[in-house]
Amino acid sequence: MSPRSVKVNSWNGWDPLRHVMVGRADGTMVQAPEPAVRRDFPDDGFPLGAYGRIPDEMTAAANEQLDGFAALLEGRGIRVERPEPIDFSQRVGTPEWTHNSMFGCMPPRDVLITVGNEMLEATMSYRSRWFEYLCYRPVLQKLFEADPDARWEAAPKPRLTDASYNTGFWDTYNQLPLEEKLDRVRRNDLALTEAEPLFDAADIARCGKDLFVQLSLVTNRSGADWLRRHFPDHRVHPVSFTNTHPLHIDATWVPLRPGLVLHNGERPAEPELTEYFKVNDWEVLEAVQPESWHHEARLSFCSPWLSVNMLSLDENTLCIEEREVRLADQLTAYGFEMIPVPFRAAAPFGGGLHCATWDIEREGTLQDYFPRRHGRF
Ligand code: ARG
Repeated sequence: MSPRSVKVNSWNGWDPLRHVMVGRADGTMVQAPEPAVRRDFPDDGFPLGAYGRIPDEMTAAANEQLDGFAALLEGRGIRVERPEPIDFSQRVGTPEWTHNSMFGCMPPRDVLITVGNEMLEATMSYRSRWFEYLCYRPVLQKLFEADPDARWEAAPKPRLTDASYNTGFWDTYNQLPLEEKLDRVRRNDLALTEAEPLFDAADIARCGKDLFVQLSLVTNRSGADWLRRHFPDHRVHPVSFTNTHPLHIDATWVPLRPGLVLHNGERPAEPELTEYFKVNDWEVLEAVQPESWHHEARLSFCSPWLSVNMLSLDENTLCIEEREVRLADQLTAYGFEMIPVPFRAAAPFGGGLHCATWDIEREGTLQDYFPRRHGRF
């Protein structure tokens, strides 16, 4: 490895990648049911209410792909960090609640975000993920020691009492007619209340001075407002999409390089958001249909749109799941070099190539890619 010194620095998702974390699958759980989330995989041995460790052979297959991805990145001269898994089957709690399991540490993207020289730990909103930061702490500590300019922040630890959740949300939501669901999504009247700020880091898309924060099943208005106040030099925009199960923005609205955002057309963006990009000379490109992920759907809570969940190595180079050949062709025509990576076995552990990573250093500085205002933006 090069003796180049460690530097925490990243303002967007496309500048040249120098240093990154890649998650691990070890010990990941189908987590115990809790107010914000409940798993129901009757055909895979985990019907509603059941929880436990994901079978060993699935974990081994996922780790093989995660290790392969880490090696590929290292082969390109990118420094790679790995989290330290803990016993996710243990019961956890605070003075205000207990919960029967944790989850895992395959998707550090959900918990950590770098904005400039700041590494920020998100609040999270699942009880099963409250303590996940412990797996990432050894790396955060190391980065803090290695880079005298790195800033290390954690958003207010959430209480996650019953007051933070709409009780009974999952008993009724899935039975609602589509229009009613979408109306709830637009109002962000979903699993979370506004009792305290809550957000997952993966609901944020970074474009230099602009941070787009998706209101979702795990991010509330108060969370977006906390981010707005925390980053006073940025424009922080709460956004929502026509998507009945909004969860992390990185399979929906994916900025690829200055002037080009990839959009999942099955989840239409608000016209005002699209217009904001257009008046600033961005092209909004609708992604082609994903390859079916049907055979890998075992225990997975993600959609086939993990296709667009790619990792940029720089503004011309994208790591893409190897079977997404049509999307690779679409983006090759846009001038990208596409690097195929086998990654489907990792999906049940928390997502795709973007979810599984956390940007620590990308070259580059803070830029304003949206000089023109539009509507509320
Ligand atoms: N909820 C998204 C989908 O199924 C997957 C996004 C996962 N992203 C992540 N950072 N964990 O379409």
